[in-house]
Amino acid sequence: MDHVRLDFGNMMAPLLARGVEPEALTGELAAAFTRAHGAVESARSEGVLGFLDLPYAQETVGQVKQLAEGFGQWFEDIVILGIGGSGLGAKALKDALLGLYWNDMSAEARDHFPRLHVVDNPDPSTMQGLLARLDPARTLFNVISKSGTTAETMAQYLVVRDVVEQVVGDGNARGHFLFTTDPTRGVLRRIGEAEEIPMLPVPENVGGRFSVLSPVGLLPAAVCGVDVDALLAGAARMEARCRNERLAENPAGVLATLLHHGDTVWGRPIHVLMPYSDRLRSLALWFQQLWAESLGKALTLAGEARPTGPTPVAALGATDQHSFLQLLMEGPHDKVVVFIEVEDHGVDTPIPNRHPEMPELSYLGGHSLGELINTERRATAEALRMAGRPNATLYIPWVGAETLGELLMLFQVATVYAGALYGVNPLDQPGVELSKRLTYGLMGRAGSEPPSFPEDAGRWTV
Ligand code: PA5
Repeated sequence: MDHVRLDFGNMMAPLLARGVEPEALTGELAAAFTRAHGAVESARSEGVLGFLDLPYAQETVGQVKQLAEGFGQWFEDIVILGIGGSGLGAKALKDALLGLYWNDMSAEARDHFPRLHVVDNPDPSTMQGLLARLDPARTLFNVISKSGTTAETMAQYLVVRDVVEQVVGDGNARGHFLFTTDPTRGVLRRIGEAEEIPMLPVPENVGGRFSVLSPVGLLPAAVCGVDVDALLAGAARMEARCRNERLAENPAGVLATLLHHGDTVWGRPIHVLMPYSDRLRSLALWFQQLWAESLGKALTLAGEARPTGPTPVAALGATDQHSFLQLLMEGPHDKVVVFIEVEDHGVDTPIPNRHPEMPELSYLGGHSLGELINTERRATAEALRMAGRPNATLYIPWVGAETLGELLMLFQVATVYAGALYGVNPLDQPGVELSKRLTYGLMGRAGSEPPSFPEDAGRWTV
């Protein structure tokens, strides 16, 4: 079995001018990593890094499979209502493992598995558009919220609950819902218990953005026939590799260490993740949330006020070579790029040699689209290196359940290592609370004072 591997040669001297000296990998960077590794292992033993245990949570996996293979197959469509970590992981799995056209395929082509929709934003036009295309009588709504109180998700639930009741009647509506939420707390759980709606747990020690390998991501994937055992096997393999305390043998350690070094030593706080695969674009968006929400903090672990955090950017190759590459090549020296290359795209499309007389086109003939996209990745990485711009490449042998499990675990472990290197808590997100409180006040939630905005006193508009 081939594994995901990280090629970081384009961040190292002498290949990269002023790159990391090889000795640093066993010297100062290794020493910093040893401390980060120790902090992560302590957190693991305190039981706060529940995501590390998810590949081995056999009982929950059994529950997921039972629901997915039975109840889940009664429906033609499954709609995920969940935002942030409760939606991005399912979307990343869907696009990578089912492909971008799953919902447009015939039932036969889907082996009669349901269509899958992930709705995160409470945008009324999206909701109306989706509801107009669905038959609520043949749809399962999987409401996903760890807290069970998130305004966007709960508002969507209230909307669809009414719609389903209007179509199937009050008594039958509960049969169209499945809740994925905290095992003991929250409004969603209370409703589920009162109405005997099937529920799956998000373990107490697993936060939203680290929950993709819990029922949050597993159920939607399993309902559509994804081999969740393979997904978890890949994640377990990477989790085992990333326990290694030797920096040079730990892919998550190297990724976190070099990105942290890029930011704090080279002054490159912008971290671009750029897969050369449409199916992995949503994975880059999932990573963007993971890296941003985990590392962007006002306070250090020691309680010191020090705004911290790299800025992740999700890009797509080769598309963004025509929008973003100019900036990467010639703009400020403030970015590190991590590419993802899919070595075998599974299918390929030969390029016909239609105009042998035109050298501007004939060089393409006889090659394939897969060859072209991967060659462009390679050429771009080299162009950046030649311009003194650090970059690395994650090679994924093919896009499948096992390799995706490896990648998901790699990024999650890298995130907690990065948290330790930056000296911040990667598991909380206190900065999102204020806007939530203001929203509650504006929307009239009981116990929330309506805030007065300075802009209400006098607006500057044009
Ligand atoms: O990573 C996080 O914790 C957040 O992005 C949450 O996933 C997001 O806010 C949704 O929260 P919840 O699952 O409680 O609805």
